[in-house]
Amino acid sequence: MSLQDRVTQEFARRFGAAPTFVVRAPGRVNLIGEHTDYNDGFVLPMAIDRAVWVALRPRSDRRVVCHSLDFDQVAEFPLADLTRGKGWAEYLKGVAWALQEAGYTLQGWEGVLAGDVPIGAGLSSSAALEMATARVFAATSGLPWEATTMAKLGQRAENKWVGVNCGIMDQTISAAGLAGHALLIDCRSLETQSVPLPPGTAIVVLDTATRRGLVDSAYNERRAQCEAAARTFGVPALRDVDLAHFQAQAGRLDDVTRRRARHVVTENARTLEAVAAMRKGDAVTLGQLMDASHASLRDDFEVSSDGLNTMVACARQQESCYGARMTGAGFGGCAVALVRVDAAHAFATTVADCYQATTGTAPNVYVCAATNGAEVVTG
Ligand code: GLA
Repeated sequence: MSLQDRVTQEFARRFGAAPTFVVRAPGRVNLIGEHTDYNDGFVLPMAIDRAVWVALRPRSDRRVVCHSLDFDQVAEFPLADLTRGKGWAEYLKGVAWALQEAGYTLQGWEGVLAGDVPIGAGLSSSAALEMATARVFAATSGLPWEATTMAKLGQRAENKWVGVNCGIMDQTISAAGLAGHALLIDCRSLETQSVPLPPGTAIVVLDTATRRGLVDSAYNERRAQCEAAARTFGVPALRDVDLAHFQAQAGRLDDVTRRRARHVVTENARTLEAVAAMRKGDAVTLGQLMDASHASLRDDFEVSSDGLNTMVACARQQESCYGARMTGAGFGGCAVALVRVDAAHAFATTVADCYQATTGTAPNVYVCAATNGAEVVTG
């Protein structure tokens, strides 16, 4: 049964009526542009066909009552008195908090929630939950669906309520994705452009099934190194440094900071080149740029892992593969590959076997379609 049917049926069972709205918001995979969002740079993610779904109806008492089928728990809280706690409900409360802080008057609702974005895999299950919540409040409270505004508020919920220091990429793509397309996001202006996937290609997500602790501290350390590099260059963010500028001034940075900055500068350029290649339908060039991105993340930014490197090597051995790289924050989680569409399922099986034979760990592989961002599906 689809998740849409599950939340709809469970809603009817619990509330004895059909839901007023069914909402979905997707996870994402980033094709290229990694660790560039918090440098005011460019990213190119796509929304995937794994999402958080909510079936709901408004309430008149300004309370939220939400059943999670994944956790088999009920979250209940009053919008007028939000207090911090633990667990998945914090994303709902955090978004309610951010929306109210921004001046929106929210109406309560009750509903049933379920998702199939794997949690903690680097496919933005948190952003999907945040944007699903924002979409629900927009539907119940008559707010305009302004994707960029909602993404910023979702990021604020994550930064200030949940306490994770993420950039703007994940919420933006979950809010604003377009089926069949990746989304170029200028993380300074927040302007977006939908970019079609090259004809005849498929995107395969390769989850190493490895998770590493300390991702947050390593992430914050990378952010600090990038900010230090920008200060040395005398610019607001590394977005403002091109390759020529970098090469002329790189001697002023210590070795580690220089490599961190080189990744960001070259990755921003690669992301714009990737958009140009996609617009020409040039999968070969796009694949080469993904390969180069992986090398840069592994050697200069140092956020890859043995598992990710093995997965990428297994992927590249396949002649149906145009390119592959780690995706997301790194240190574990997922790689992403661009492959020939007719060979995508065979590719997924062969790469999974290769990875398991090398590491002894069974990976999870997903051939992904590019979907719309957060939307009201019925209602
Ligand atoms: C995580 C963050 C994003 C981005 C990526 C790295 O997914 O949530 O904002 O910084 O890491 O590109």
